Amino acid sequence: MTTIIAPHGGVLKDLIASEKKAEALKTEAMGYVSWDLTERQLWDIEMLLCGAFSPLEGFLGKDDYASVLKDMRLSDGTVWPVPITLDVKEEFAEKLKTGTKIALRDHEGVLIAVMTVGDIWKPDKKAEAELVLGSTDDAHPGVDYLLNRSNPVYIGGKLQGVEMPRHYDFKYLRNTPKDLRDRFKKLGWTRVVAFQTRNPMHRAHQELTFRAAQKSAANLLIHPVVGMTKPGDIDHYSRIRCYEYLIKQYPEQTTMLSLLPLAMRMGGPRECVWHAIIRKNYGCTHFIVGRNHADPGNNKKGEPFYGPFDAQELLGKLQSEIGIEMVAFPEMVFVQEKAEYVPSSEVNKGDTVLNISGTEFRRRLAEGLDIPEWFSYKEVVNELRRTYPPKHKQGFTVFFTGLSGSGKSTVANALMVKLMETGGRRITILDGDMVRKNLSSELGFSREHRDLNIQRIGFVASEITKHGGIAICCPIAPYSKTRNGVRDVVSQSGGFVEVHVSTSVETCEGRDRKGLYAKARAGIIKEFTGISDPYEAPENPEVVIDTKDCSPDEASQRIILKLEQMGYIK
Ligand code: ADX
Repeated sequence: MTTIIAPHGGVLKDLIASEKKAEALKTEAMGYVSWDLTERQLWDIEMLLCGAFSPLEGFLGKDDYASVLKDMRLSDGTVWPVPITLDVKEEFAEKLKTGTKIALRDHEGVLIAVMTVGDIWKPDKKAEAELVLGSTDDAHPGVDYLLNRSNPVYIGGKLQGVEMPRHYDFKYLRNTPKDLRDRFKKLGWTRVVAFQTRNPMHRAHQELTFRAAQKSAANLLIHPVVGMTKPGDIDHYSRIRCYEYLIKQYPEQTTMLSLLPLAMRMGGPRECVWHAIIRKNYGCTHFIVGRNHADPGNNKKGEPFYGPFDAQELLGKLQSEIGIEMVAFPEMVFVQEKAEYVPSSEVNKGDTVLNISGTEFRRRLAEGLDIPEWFSYKEVVNELRRTYPPKHKQGFTVFFTGLSGSGKSTVANALMVKLMETGGRRITILDGDMVRKNLSSELGFSREHRDLNIQRIGFVASEITKHGGIAICCPIAPYSKTRNGVRDVVSQSGGFVEVHVSTSVETCEGRDRKGLYAKARAGIIKEFTGISDPYEAPENPEVVIDTKDCSPDEASQRIILKLEQMGYIK
């Protein structure tokens, strides 16, 4: 490990070993136990190794952890608000003791670092959630991660970095703290104000940054987070294309764009202090904080977790100790009469304030509705529309469920033909028999095999949906839980319409087109749904059809109407 005293930002840790040492570590590490880093740990380790988390030299030990939780400081008194811990499984922790060296690897097995284990302990995660994030309500993404997804044992210890985690995208925008400090020095940027964001930048953000740069007489660093952000946020690829457009709208030679490989915790005030320390490490002298900084949204009761300016208040108290100046702003709002964004403190009585919330913005994207120029540049909106097309251009899945012989395939085929008449999307029918022949030929009819079969159908349907096509599935799918699983996966990429073909077992048996019911009654076919195996009717299907009193024409028409109503066909 080397320590650089840089012109900007104070002491910077660089935990990457020299080339020679790294080679030696690779050989030594062959004999160590390996831990495959989780996605979040990979982001954390990248920040540690490049010095963005200076003065940390590894994952926190027990004393530092306790001190960070209680006092927002490392045990030597340095301000550090967020615990950076390595969470592992119990079986793994059992192999370790103090002094054990372990190999930390990425998911392909590449050696990222060697860690010398210091402390091993079982944290009280509820206490951690309460102290760091101010809540144990798992509607908070940081709490959810901590309580529901992280591993139960923490291990602390210093790191010897072998190789930085690899990224293949936007390489020209990725800079370590040292890279940025050097660039600032070369350009003569002595005052640099950093802007943190996890959103595509709209006009309000831009106005905030213009004003902040002016106010602090500084150059501007747009420093968006590209590690983990809040679930449901716009993906970083699309955001970066937006920032690249936006950066051209600033006066030349004033502004720089660089990506930050941080995994956010959405921890409001504590997170804001953390962001400021990180920016200082990257060589910035100022840091912008507006309203609801790193905000996790609302709790289960629909109330905010933090006040809109709690982050400013906390950083305000610690900024001089940290050594970076906060540029604080009230909410920026658009005033119609002035046709510009102003801080809410400058709004006069009688002014018309216009606002589009994040939720409303996403709704307008999904519905393909107008997004006005005062809210965002049309180039930015168009870029986002490419990734998030309106519903009538998204893919969708129509998932039929019902007894054998209930009429699923007949209605599905009628539906397919009607959709082909409209055109515009490719269609695939995943018929029960066809799937059993092509995807699931080795499976039988036990509950386990039936579930596996439906999961496979769900996987294929979700891929088709993701690629903008139409999947029409018509398996029996007797179990609610499995069907709901398919709904969850598919809904992430497009529309999902469940059609319960509710034709009664008596009617189906009366028709017995394939003679299967007779065989089931005679015991020749075992585990036959409706006769000798259960069928759980859907609780909230989008459409219910009984083919006893509804022709295939009428039935498919009803589905078409439903799809129109939901916005998937226009
Ligand atoms: S954050 O999670 O990264 O904080 P976001 O990208 O929305 O979310 O915000 C980035 C920064 O801009 C934060 O400092 C936030 O307080 C500020 N900000 C965003 N919108 C506004 C606004 N309308 N008025 C004032 N500050 C804002």
